[in-house]
Amino acid sequence: MKKILLLGDTGKLGTAIKEVFKDGFSICGKNTSNFNAVDFNLLSSLIESDKFDIVINTIAFIGIDQCENDNKTAYILNSLYPKKLAELSKKNDFTLVHFSTDAVFDNFKMDFYNEKDIPSPLNIYGATKYLGDCFIQAYSKKYYIFRIPILFGFTKKKEQFVEKMLLKIENGAKIIKVADDIISSPTYSIDIAYKLLSFLNNNENFGLYHIANKGSVSLHEIMKNIIKNLNLDIDIQPASYKDFPFVAIKNTYTPLNSIKTSLLRHWEDALFDYCERLKKEKLI
Ligand SMILES: NC(=O)c1ccc[n+]([C@@H]2O[C@H](COP(=O)([O-])OP(=O)(O)OC[C@H]3O[C@@H](n4cnc5c(N)ncnc54)[C@H](OP(=O)(O)O)[C@@H]3O)[C@@H](O)[C@H]2O)c1
Repeated sequence: MKKILLLGDTGKLGTAIKEVFKDGFSICGKNTSNFNAVDFNLLSSLIESDKFDIVINTIAFIGIDQCENDNKTAYILNSLYPKKLAELSKKNDFTLVHFSTDAVFDNFKMDFYNEKDIPSPLNIYGATKYLGDCFIQAYSKKYYIFRIPILFGFTKKKEQFVEKMLLKIENGAKIIKVADDIISSPTYSIDIAYKLLSFLNNNENFGLYHIANKGSVSLHEIMKNIIKNLNLDIDIQPASYKDFPFVAIKNTYTPLNSIKTSLLRHWEDALFDYCERLKKEKLI
């Protein structure tokens, strides 16, 4: 049975990976309750304490404004920590799986970004994540970097876009305003986890890939679909991201596609399944 070290097992992506990989793998999961990613000595001793076949990293300092406000932590967690993982992967000969972001791109293509497009980050989050990608490509021999767009999926946290909106609704909001000038390709965490499983099972070539559900859409349209699927009586109104406070330059047009691997199913089908599960498991 293959041994996996899952760094960040309690986040949105980690939760999906734990679920999809529950059979056939031995998983050692780490999060802030039992690990500190910025302690590189701890990281080295954790990795050298066992013989892991695969190390999957979902830990990052996320949040575009949070990174802008604390660029030191962003640099340590999004750039130097993946560099350390890459060095350890070479030394200890494990496969490194790492997740990157559409925020490495600017907004100017006005079309889907693929793996051949050259990153040109607009903010500290995108820049530090891009540097992390570069370090892994430079130092690791056996790696998968998956660039992914905005995620929906199951998580106990309430800080990301969909959860923040659902929390507002749970707290009684009857009208919500959502930006219709931020366009991405929303992607289901569970679909990414299955795609990762198929990459590992099929020994796909190492390298950098984009993974996304098909299609592109605004944040407003994503929430409109969720509200419709959940049969909620909410008035959802279009707005501009400029109507809300923000610090960093926003990524406003960064949908992803791929010229190296097939895209996942259409985002609307994935979002429908996500909402069905929210209802069935009474998560809303
Ligand atoms: N979410 C998105 O929309 C999105 C979009 C594009 C790319 N990505 C990328 O996808 C990856 C996963 O994102 P996610 O949404 O799953 O993140 P998440 O929900 O915030 O989960 C982060 C995970 O990392 C752990 N963690 C954070 N800081 C840590 C530290 N200093 N030491 C130890 N553990 C720490 C958290 O543990 P606790 O639960 O204990 O806090 C949690 O398990 C990231 O690389 C991100 O850049 C995400």
